[in-house]
Amino acid sequence: MSTITQITALLATSLALLASTTTASVTVQYTGRAPTGYEVTFKYTNATANKVQIAGGLLPFTDQFHTTPAFSTAYDPHEYRPGDFFVAGLNVNTTGNLGPQGNYTGFYMNNTGNGHWEWTSPFPSGTYSYAYIIDCGLGPRCATTEPGQVPGLTFYNDPQNLPFQNDHLQFNHSIFQVPYDKEFQYYPALNLDFDFSLPVPTAHQGKALAVNYSSPGSTYPAKDIHDLALYLPPNYDPNCTDPYPVLYLSHGGGGSAYDWPNLAKAFNIIDNLILEQWIPPTVVVCPAFYNLGCNDTGPFPELMICVRENYLSILLPFVEETYRASSDPEHRAFAGLSLGSELTYEMYINATSNFSSFGLFSGARGPASSDTNTAGYISNASVAANPELANRGVFVGFGNFDIAFTDCRALELALELAGVPFLSRIGLWKPTPYGIDAGRTGRVTY
Ligand SMILES: *[C@@H]1O[C@H](CO)[C@@H](O)[C@H](O)[C@H]1NC(C)=O
Ligand SMILES: *[C@@H]1O[C@H](CO)[C@@H](O)[C@H](O)[C@H]1NC(C)=O
Ligand SMILES: *[C@@H]1O[C@H](CO)[C@@H](O)[C@H](O)[C@H]1NC(C)=O
Ligand SMILES: *[C@@H]1O[C@H](CO)[C@@H](O)[C@H](O)[C@H]1NC(C)=O
Ligand SMILES: *[C@@H]1O[C@H](CO)[C@@H](O)[C@H](O)[C@H]1NC(C)=O
Ligand SMILES: *[C@@H]1O[C@H](CO)[C@@H](O)[C@H](O)[C@H]1NC(C)=O
Ligand SMILES: *[C@@H]1O[C@H](CO)[C@@H](O)[C@H](O)[C@H]1NC(C)=O
Ligand SMILES: *[C@@H]1O[C@H](CO)[C@@H](O)[C@H](O)[C@H]1NC(C)=O
Ligand SMILES: *[C@@H]1O[C@H](CO)[C@@H](O)[C@H](O)[C@H]1NC(C)=O
Ligand SMILES: *[C@@H]1O[C@H](CO)[C@@H](O)[C@H](O)[C@H]1NC(C)=O
Ligand SMILES: *[C@@H]1O[C@H](CO)[C@@H](O)[C@H](O)[C@H]1NC(C)=O
Repeated sequence: MSTITQITALLATSLALLASTTTASVTVQYTGRAPTGYEVTFKYTNATANKVQIAGGLLPFTDQFHTTPAFSTAYDPHEYRPGDFFVAGLNVNTTGNLGPQGNYTGFYMNNTGNGHWEWTSPFPSGTYSYAYIIDCGLGPRCATTEPGQVPGLTFYNDPQNLPFQNDHLQFNHSIFQVPYDKEFQYYPALNLDFDFSLPVPTAHQGKALAVNYSSPGSTYPAKDIHDLALYLPPNYDPNCTDPYPVLYLSHGGGGSAYDWPNLAKAFNIIDNLILEQWIPPTVVVCPAFYNLGCNDTGPFPELMICVRENYLSILLPFVEETYRASSDPEHRAFAGLSLGSELTYEMYINATSNFSSFGLFSGARGPASSDTNTAGYISNASVAANPELANRGVFVGFGNFDIAFTDCRALELALELAGVPFLSRIGLWKPTPYGIDAGRTGRVTY
């Protein structure tokens, strides 16, 4: 599973199983058959294409015993066993990062004639992104999840299953979701039920909006205009007495405002959390930290410092003036993924009093030399200088096969040494693999 899926897996409880979900040209069908109980059929039309691959984040599977952040065994989904997951290769040019020969090229669609392409495969519970790659001659590099890494490679999204909002910048992926089936996907040591990201009944859905706002210095989507994705809870009342609590939720490196609602179905998760009464009706703002007028390629933490200043002086006032969103730090939270988690760390350290809670998902200060080297992280001296650091809600979440593993472990150790209470969630445990009694123990090692 991707880092985003792992993180969203931490956010909520499960919902009832759905029998079948259809999204235009992608059909998710309950089969009641191994290996997952569900099959996904893709249909695509392009009369001039000679070959069509499905990639853009749709990856083969791997297991806990043969995986590193940069290596996946690349099992075909037909070989799925409960406990398997997927990891994205970090560098598409690194031989061996997807499959033993590093030769995974995406899933080849069948040509069914007259320009029609089709492909059917089982998948387990989760949220998946995909894009079509046409006539790609780049070998394994056709299978990258990030088109920006491979100049000239075009990702075609599914015109009948468009993303909530195309981000124009990098990801051009469509999304589908597969429900959980405990008959085929149950794994004793890990909850693999991701149904909390499936849509709730329409009457209980909040509203998702793409919003442009005035932000002097911004260079995208227009001069002095910046963009964000907004979630307003069901029955949102702009005149209600108490303003809504607000969560600022940041994308990661190379990302955009629309990544959380697109790739992680974050607004479905928030719908579920509100419906199940885990959280009160909440406004969610997914801002975008690139193109604000800061130096996007500049060294850290200067970019994060610049973004912090921008958000506090421009973004928050805009949100609070325009929507019924709380301006009380007690009812504001900031969270983010990866580089967005580094931004969250910047907010925690340098905007401590502006938020009551901080969610750090896979990142803090960037690459760390070791799990135990806490130099530069929060310390007793930081807490002595800024006692509020010790009374915020701090959540640290990351995955076992996560490029930010060392960074997050160092952060957790630093928080412990500084006596700061925090909530920790690790997607898969290290160093002891989960459930050694099951899974792929019998397979060859690489
Ligand atoms: C169809 O495939 C061709 C390559 O053969 C590509 O140039 C074209 O953009 C594709 N058309 C659509 C609508 O995706
Ligand atoms: C991968 O290799 C190609 C061709 O050598 C190069 O142009 C590209 O920059 C490399 N990409 C990465 C991410 O290293
Ligand atoms: C990759 O290479 C291995 C070994 O040669 C082969 O079994 C496998 O089918 C290849 N995979 C693809 C996607 O070509
Ligand atoms: C491709 O077509 C063949 C022949 O009809 C079929 O057996 C196979 O299941 C198809 N593969 C996929 C992945 O849809
Ligand atoms: C995204 O996909 C659409 C539809 O397949 C295509 O027309 C468009 O050119 C793609 N956009 C980018 C930026 O690749
Ligand atoms: C935001 O501004 C851009 C550039 O002017 C425009 O293309 C886009 O449609 C606008 N989006 C919204 C939601 O208004
Ligand atoms: C909120 O109040 C304003 C003026 O007080 C009124 O114009 C508007 O219609 C109200 N909106 C709703 C949804 O009640
Ligand atoms: C942005 O930062 C990079 C790296 O430090 C530097 O080379 C570049 O000159 C900076 N750009 C601007 C516009 O300051
Ligand atoms: C952030 O906190 C500082 C210090 O308490 C305060 O001066 C500033 O107004 C706050 N900013 C916002 C947007 O709440
Ligand atoms: C916080 O602000 C200080 C002073 O500007 C700066 O040195 C530091 O890098 C900032 N960020 C963090 C995470 O400490
Ligand atoms: C930090 O402070 C705690 C008491 O709050 C103390 O137990 C601990 O030894 C201190 N750590 C260091 C490294 O000074």
